[in-house]
This record gives sequence, structure tokens and C-alpha cells, in this order.
Amino acid sequence: MSLPSPAGTPLLGHLWRWSTNPVRLLQDGARTGDVFRLRLWRTAVVGYTPDWNRAVLGDLDTFRSIGSLSGLTPYLSAGVVYQDNPEHDPRRKELNPHFHARALDHLLERLDLVGRADLPTGRFEALGWASDVVRRMLNAAFFANTMPDRLLADFLHPLQRAAPGPMIPRPLLFRRLDAAIAAILADPPPGSLAEAMSGMDGAVAEIRVGLAAGYDTTAHTLAWALWHLAGAPEWRQADTLGQVLDEILRLYPAGWLGSRVTARDTTASGVHLPANTLVLYSPLLTHRDPRLWPDPHAFRPERFDDGRPAWGFLPFSAGRRTCLGAHLARAMLLAALRPWSDAKLAQLEGDPTPSAAIALRPRGPLHLDRRW
Ligand code: HEM
Repeated sequence: MSLPSPAGTPLLGHLWRWSTNPVRLLQDGARTGDVFRLRLWRTAVVGYTPDWNRAVLGDLDTFRSIGSLSGLTPYLSAGVVYQDNPEHDPRRKELNPHFHARALDHLLERLDLVGRADLPTGRFEALGWASDVVRRMLNAAFFANTMPDRLLADFLHPLQRAAPGPMIPRPLLFRRLDAAIAAILADPPPGSLAEAMSGMDGAVAEIRVGLAAGYDTTAHTLAWALWHLAGAPEWRQADTLGQVLDEILRLYPAGWLGSRVTARDTTASGVHLPANTLVLYSPLLTHRDPRLWPDPHAFRPERFDDGRPAWGFLPFSAGRRTCLGAHLARAMLLAALRPWSDAKLAQLEGDPTPSAAIALRPRGPLHLDRRW
């Protein structure tokens, strides 16, 4: 079947648009059809309906991770992120119990301490603040704060650089971080995720990839959340923060694009996909589809009173590859937002429009002001 395609150039296809403004390219593609084709360095087939999401995310044996876009960055081409079956399922079975909501209960106090420490006063930039808070919370959760903050910052910083920053191999830095993780695992602080994972084969790589997968995703989500809460004080109370988070994750899903490679000929949404096709799903497109979400560009947390469409809300993906850190991310976000409930907070200036890096990020910066 021939698929529609957004405008490109005969020679480069969509590569130029992909490297300059992939969000706009995807949005233009979505206007051409529910499933469309992009000519990148290889052909990619993109879909965003619930039906497509179910097909692509529901069958791990056909839609594989190895060979997908995660392989483009050393930060994500390791551990469970970049494993397929038969290895993936047993690895998740080992990891899942340590990341369940109940298993994280004992970390909440530590996260709250970080969230309450040193709230900025006066003018500050939300992304910088959020990145510091999330880095400290990851250190608290994984290592009970025993990882040198400077080393963690050095490791995580390139993830927020413009392309090709996050794609560049940094073997020395990775080795330094791995050595520090291994040292902590050898004598893990009680009650830390490192302690929970200390007996596991490949724990160093799993922790490294967990830090990378959890850092700018959570930090950018937090920055957007605080920005919107500054403009909507009525939503700052603890009992409605869960809905606010859902709405922020709907509008700005940090994991804006997911990729798989077909292991065999198959079909999804009635479209034939030959073996070895690069297949993309996009929570960003799904979450802004007016057929699923009325008035999709508006910030309206109350919309979650009415539930959510099946396979139509995917901030943490879905199926057996759903985000390992979803509960941890929510716990960090709530702990970071709760202290702001009574603050006098105002938006100064900024641009929250989503722009694409490895994780979706505000075109930003987002300047806020806090008064006593
Ligand atoms: C708001 C924050 C976060 C968002 C929006 C997010 C989003 C996602 C998404 C969409 C995926 C699926 C990617 C795919 O396979 O197509 C994913 C996978 C994953 N995430 Fe998160 N994530 C967040 C925070 C975290 C945190 C804090 C951790 C720390 C443990 C983490 C660890 C992982 C891992 C290990 C996977 C791979 C799971 C697998 O393939 O079995 N994430 N995340």
C-alpha cells in the first residue's frame, strides 16, 4: 500500500526537516493520514492511533527494540532498554518489583527532603532548577546520596545538549560512572535502589541506563508542570497534583517518539510492514489528536475526571515495555511540586512550546518569579 507523506525534498527526503524541526515534521505528517511515511536515513513508517499503538506495543516478538533509534545514543543502547526477548521479559521480571509503587514507599521521605530543600527565591529559570532537583532525587533514590554529585552531573549533562551531543560516545566518562556505581553496589547504602539491585547480573548497566532514561524526561516534565502551576494557582493543592501531572504528561510527553524494528512481515492498522521496517509511534501526536482529546492543546487537568482512552494515553508507553521508572518519576514529580502549593509564583517570560531533543523539552527558557 502506498502511504501518504509530508512535504520533503527529492534528494534528502525528510532528513533536513527531521534534523531541524522533527515535531513540525510529525505534525505535518499526521495531517496527511493516520499512518504516514518518512524518508530519513532509512524509511520510517509512523502511526499514532490507539489501534496502531496497540499493534506496535502489544507484540514484543514482532516489534523489536534492537536496531531502533535507542541505538543512536550510548546513553540508551544498554540494559533493559535495548534488550529483546528472550532476554527482555526475564530482566523486567527481575527489575519490576524494585520499581513498583509500594516498593518505593520507603524512598518518599528522602525525595521529600530534596523537594523541600532550598526552593529558589526571586527570578529563576524552571529548566535549570528542575534539572538540579531531579539529579539530586535520582541520587537520593538510587544511592542514598552517596554518588558524588559532580560526577553524576558530568554524566547527565550531555543528555540535555543539542544533537549530536547525546549521541557522542564518552567511554572515559561512562567508565568513571560505572566504577562509582560498582563501588556503591559493593557496599550499598540501606534502603537504596542500589541495595535492592545489588545481587543482579548487569546491575551497573541497568542503573546507568535508568539514570539516563529518568533524568531529562523527569526534569523537563517538572519544568513544564511548575510553569503551568504558576499560571494556574487553583491547581496547586496536593489532592489535585496527580491530575495536573497527567495533563502535563499528555501535553508534553517527554518520550515523544518511540521506535521499533519489525522482526518479520506483519501488518498494523491494515498497513503491510515488511521485515526490518523502522516503525515509529508518537505519544505526542496521539495526545494531541482531537478525536481522542477534545480541545487538545488546552491545559485542562479536569479532563482526567472522565478517564482516558485505551491506548490513547501513553506518556510512559504501554505493554510489557512500559516505562520501568513510571512510579519513581511520579514520586519525584509530586515531591518536587508539593512544596510550591502556597508559594507566590508567577510566570515572567518563556516559551513552553515543545521542541524535540532525545526527550521532548520546552523551547524555553521558562523564567519564573517566586515572592514570599
Ligand atoms: C516523566 C518521566 C519519564 C517519562 C515520560 C518516561 C517515558 C518512557 C517511555 C515512553 C518509555 C518507553 C520507550 C519505548 O520503549 O518506546 C520508557 C522506558 C523506560 N524508562 Fe522511562 N520515563 C520517565 C522516567 C523514567 C525514570 C525515572 C526511569 C528510572 C528508572 C526510567 C527508566 C526507563 C527504562 C529502564 C525504560 C525501558 C523499559 C523497557 O524497555 O523495558 N524512566 N520511559
